[in-house]
Amino acid sequence: MAVTKIQVKSFPAPAQLATMTDLTSQEAKAVTEAVNPLIADVFALYVKTKNFHWHLSGSHFRDYHLLFDEQAEAIFEAIDIMAERVRRIGGTTIRSIGHIAQLQTIEDDNNDFVPAGVMVRQLMEDNAHMAKMIRDAIAVCDKNRDSATSNVLQEILDETERRKWFLFEVMQGVNNTD
Ligand SMILES: [Fe+2]
Repeated sequence: MAVTKIQVKSFPAPAQLATMTDLTSQEAKAVTEAVNPLIADVFALYVKTKNFHWHLSGSHFRDYHLLFDEQAEAIFEAIDIMAERVRRIGGTTIRSIGHIAQLQTIEDDNNDFVPAGVMVRQLMEDNAHMAKMIRDAIAVCDKNRDSATSNVLQEILDETERRKWFLFEVMQGVNNTD
C-alpha cells in the first residue's frame, strides 16, 4: 500500500484559529511545537495500551487486562487537555492519524503475538520515555512564560509516572515469556 507522506504545519494558525494571547508568537510557537509531539505520543501510547489490553494471553490475564484498560483511560483523558492548551495560545494541534505518525516518537507494535511480560516492560519503557518528553516540554513552557500549560503538563507527568511505577512493580519477578 502506498503511504502518502504528509507534513502538517501547526504554527502560525490561519487567522480564524489564531486565538489572541499575550505570549509573543515565538513563545506560542515554541510551546505549540513542544506540546503537539506529546499529544501524538499520547495517542500512540493509548492505541498500544489498548492493543495489549485486547491481545493479552497468559496466567495474569485478568490483572493485566484490567490494568491496561485503566491506564488507557487515563492516557486518553490527557489528549484533549493538551490539545486545548495549544488552541488557547493560538496554535493548531493534531489533525489526523497521518499527523500523529509524522510526530510520534513512541513506536507502534504490530507484532502477531507479544508475551505478557514483554507487554508490561514495553509499556513501562514507553511511559518512562513519555515522562522524559513531558519534563522537557515543561522546561520549554517555563522558558516561554506559559505557566498554565506547564501546570497542566505537571499533572500529566505525575499520572505518567504513576503508570510507570505500577508497571515497574508488576514487572518485578515477571518472566518475559510469562
Ligand atoms: Fe476492554
